[in-house]
Amino acid sequence: MSAPKKLYIKTYGCQMNVYDSERMAEALAGYEQTDTPDDADMILLNTCHIREKAAEKVYSELGRFKGLKAEKPDLKIGVAGCVAQAEGEEIMRRQPMVDLVVGPQSYHRLPEMEARTHNGAKVVDTDFPEEDKFEKLKTRPKAKRGPTAFLTVQEGCDKFCAFCVVPYTRGAEVSRPVDRVLAEARDLVERGVREVTLLGQNVNAYHGAAQGGEWTLAQLIWALNDIDGLERIRFTTSHPNDMDDALIEAHGTCDKLMPYLHLPVQSGSDRILKRMNRSHTAESYLRLIERIRAARPDILMSGDFIVGFPEETEADFQATLDLVEEVRYGYAYSFKYSTRPGTPAAERAQVDPAEADDRLQRLQALITRDQRAIQNEMVGREMGVLFEKPGRKPGQMVGKSDYLHAVHVQAEGLQPGDLRRVRIVESGANSLRGELLD
Ligand code: 5AD
Ligand code: SF4
Repeated sequence: MSAPKKLYIKTYGCQMNVYDSERMAEALAGYEQTDTPDDADMILLNTCHIREKAAEKVYSELGRFKGLKAEKPDLKIGVAGCVAQAEGEEIMRRQPMVDLVVGPQSYHRLPEMEARTHNGAKVVDTDFPEEDKFEKLKTRPKAKRGPTAFLTVQEGCDKFCAFCVVPYTRGAEVSRPVDRVLAEARDLVERGVREVTLLGQNVNAYHGAAQGGEWTLAQLIWALNDIDGLERIRFTTSHPNDMDDALIEAHGTCDKLMPYLHLPVQSGSDRILKRMNRSHTAESYLRLIERIRAARPDILMSGDFIVGFPEETEADFQATLDLVEEVRYGYAYSFKYSTRPGTPAAERAQVDPAEADDRLQRLQALITRDQRAIQNEMVGREMGVLFEKPGRKPGQMVGKSDYLHAVHVQAEGLQPGDLRRVRIVESGANSLRGELLD
């Protein structure tokens, strides 16, 4: 038997791409993964189109593979993910050495596409097929894996925020059926997983087919809560308008659901929120957080912000700073608005880039201040830590707290996958230090 061919996958962008990359590697069964492009027989870039910079990275990365391809003409180069979806054949026009372009909804066809490239064909598939890719993909391997896993339960978006490409690259909102999600979760647990993060572009809009109707995300979480051996449940990313009462309540009553919620608001200005087509106000968002905190007082909030959205004034930006002050985010991600072709906001008057840079810096300074303060407030508290891997020092293990902070502990005999109670004793630059309680 000849040695298996080697596949190098590079993943950009969101957690869903991380999940998709796993599934694509599994689909390409004739290959084993390598962590360097140098010895690969196939290179696959799983790309992100969310901002211009992310999309441009793909072309510069492809440029770097030119030499490899010249040395090794049999090397196959593929582009997957959201840039593939958005640009299709254009990618091959700009980089003719690309053999294969596959969108996020058609990658179950990868094996057959890959076979065609061996006859010298250039293959592009950016369909939104009728069939469900997850049903067509091979069953997942049984190999052991680490203690945490992503699990896509919902894809696509029907909200059409004026800045966002996702409805165009990932397509309309679709939820996976409940029994498939539960079976995959049970399977992951058998393979050693103790924490799942349910993924969706609008995960809290989940409405998966179930016996006798459709289930909401809260119902799905409660069913996952019953799986023995699964210890922690998280989900991301959510839209404020889809936080229903049952989901809010679950944060207070479902013990495996972790006290962390990523709930992007994008701006604190009602005028800008309206221009963004967000269909909520700053006030309604703040009241929603009040209700979530009433259900789970220690919940750690996380969010996303865009600064320099077209027509954003200093007063609008000030409203964003005010909202951030009021919420006190444990984590928050802020981005300078990036014009995405084909989206409504692309046609509007742009903010001066120097002004947008300045706002980004001011917002990030405020976010960092809160993030640090909240991390420091963990000192002295007791919480669960799920250990994932050895730390840099001998005898050290690193894991994530219930609130998703990295925690280092020095202790004999700890294994990846151990979930232990820990007292936090120190807050460092990017992580906490803890001591085992039991
Ligand atoms: N420009 C900048 N940031 C964007 N995001 C989405 N689209 C854009 C854009 N055109 C940000 C939003 C979203 C996160 C995933 O990326 O904040 O929540
Ligand atoms: Fe990037 Fe968004 Fe696509 Fe994820 S869904 S890969 S973040 S464009």
